[in-house]
Amino acid sequence: MQHHRKVAAAAAQQAGKIIADAYRTDFQVYYKEGTLTNLVTEVDRRSEAAIVEVIGAAFPKHRILAEEGGEASRKDSPYRWYVDPLDGTTNFAHGFPVFCVSIGLEADGHMILGVVYDPLRRELFEAETGQGAFLNGERIRVSKVADLHKALLVTGFPYDHAGRKENLPYFSRFALESQGVRRTGSAALDLCYVAAGRIDGFWELDLRPWDVAAGSLMVTEAGGKVTDFLGHPFSVHGSQTLATNSLIHEAMASVIAGT
Ligand code: IPD
Ligand code: CA
Ligand code: CA
Repeated sequence: MQHHRKVAAAAAQQAGKIIADAYRTDFQVYYKEGTLTNLVTEVDRRSEAAIVEVIGAAFPKHRILAEEGGEASRKDSPYRWYVDPLDGTTNFAHGFPVFCVSIGLEADGHMILGVVYDPLRRELFEAETGQGAFLNGERIRVSKVADLHKALLVTGFPYDHAGRKENLPYFSRFALESQGVRRTGSAALDLCYVAAGRIDGFWELDLRPWDVAAGSLMVTEAGGKVTDFLGHPFSVHGSQTLATNSLIHEAMASVIAGT
């Protein structure tokens, strides 16, 4: 697994350099599916091409599910990579400095490796099943905040307006029942921040597998808990993510259940 981790980290850092070099330059921005909210830039595409090239060269038989390119056709491998070449595209497009590269690896349906790289802060988050979670090589752990009223939370909103409306009641409740709610615009970083103890709890609806593949493993390897909103086992293919330091998990799930 050491080799897989090295390849993932190299791919993330190479892509991160492409992103950092392009940040605040004059790049092309496109609207996806005719919407006014779902953006993709030429930098997302260049970043993805670099990652797919590095992973594809090292592991030609593995499957790759990458946000901008869809699924690579190799269907028979137990290994599947989930690639978000730029998580936080709206931030990036506006020059707001919060975005990252996220790469997760699954074997036989279980996440076994996650790498998230923030190219502006040069923060490399890495997690491996059973090995723990790390930030620039140092072990990280979730926070010890046990009281929801003392907890700092984070959430995000999907691109479509129906999905945004669905999250507003939760946002209102948590804004009143926690110390504060943040909204960073990068779900992969939100999860890493839970893992690093910078944030105590995160919830979001309608995320995609590449948003949460690496970050969900980061949280569990840092001692936290990730489930759906009801506390059932988490799946990167599901539509609900509740990730906490584990101590406020039940309290968050019951606020959600009562909303
Ligand atoms: C988005 C970010 C954001 C979340 C959105 C995602 P993208 O990913 O993770 O935090 O709220 O739902 O789609 O499009 O910037 O890769
Ligand atoms: Ca994303
Ligand atoms: Ca993306």
